[in-house]
Amino acid sequence: MARNPYAEIENGQPGRIGCLIHYVEETSSTQELARSLAAQGAPQGTVVIAERQSAGRGRMGRGWHSPPGVNLYMTVILRPRISLAEVARLSLVAGVAVAEAMETVAPGIVSLKWPNDVWLNGRKAGGIIAEAVTDAKSGLSCVLLGIGLNVNLSAEQIPPELRSRATSVLIATGRPCERVALANSLFLRLDSRYMETETRGFAAVREAWERYSALTGKRVTVVEAGTRHSGVVAGIDPDGALLLDCEAGRQRIVAGDVTLEGAYDRD
Ligand code: BTN
Repeated sequence: MARNPYAEIENGQPGRIGCLIHYVEETSSTQELARSLAAQGAPQGTVVIAERQSAGRGRMGRGWHSPPGVNLYMTVILRPRISLAEVARLSLVAGVAVAEAMETVAPGIVSLKWPNDVWLNGRKAGGIIAEAVTDAKSGLSCVLLGIGLNVNLSAEQIPPELRSRATSVLIATGRPCERVALANSLFLRLDSRYMETETRGFAAVREAWERYSALTGKRVTVVEAGTRHSGVVAGIDPDGALLLDCEAGRQRIVAGDVTLEGAYDRD
């Protein structure tokens, strides 16, 4: 069995993020491995980390480039007492935690692009996906929070079609980054932000999210369910929806693909 380099940051505290860490050299997607562990009763806070994924998944049916030895690919199992409609907000909560952890290794250059891209110097270095698992009896049974971070990926390792839009901690700062230490900062920040949301609601985290927002005040185009909206981003609302000031007035966008005008061709 592969040595687990993350064993030293497993905290053993039931329900806390990082209480158990399952490490594998390779899997199709940590989302799938976490799904089967969750079905077997894995507690909240269990984290699945893979060194490489053969079929890493991004949002909207896209893939997630997952070469070995350089990045972080993880799924955190959460068992929140929330409705299905509130699950999307968890990816914003995770976004704040990731931004705060990234700030420790790339100070001053971290921002968030709604809904869940993590940017360094305006290029994507990470992404978050929140998948709900439901059961007929109790409704929401758990949330699989998938987080992918480009850490020590070199420019040459980025697929050519993504090169103008993607980056890593190494590329953005010029310094390699210790992945176990970064994962530990992330677990601590996620634990704190998640607990804060459970006890005080989304408002406190929303304020922090706004401080990291790359889009607020910027003109963007959003494609939502086949419809194109163009306008200036006013922020996010208490449910985490994007507020867009368009010619026709303020629009509330709950899901979609956002393009910052003049920045790059597409997400
Ligand atoms: C996105 O920006 O599209 C979200 C990307 C999420 C990628 C992570 S990597 C770990 C976990 N396993 C997956 O297959 N996807 C998520």
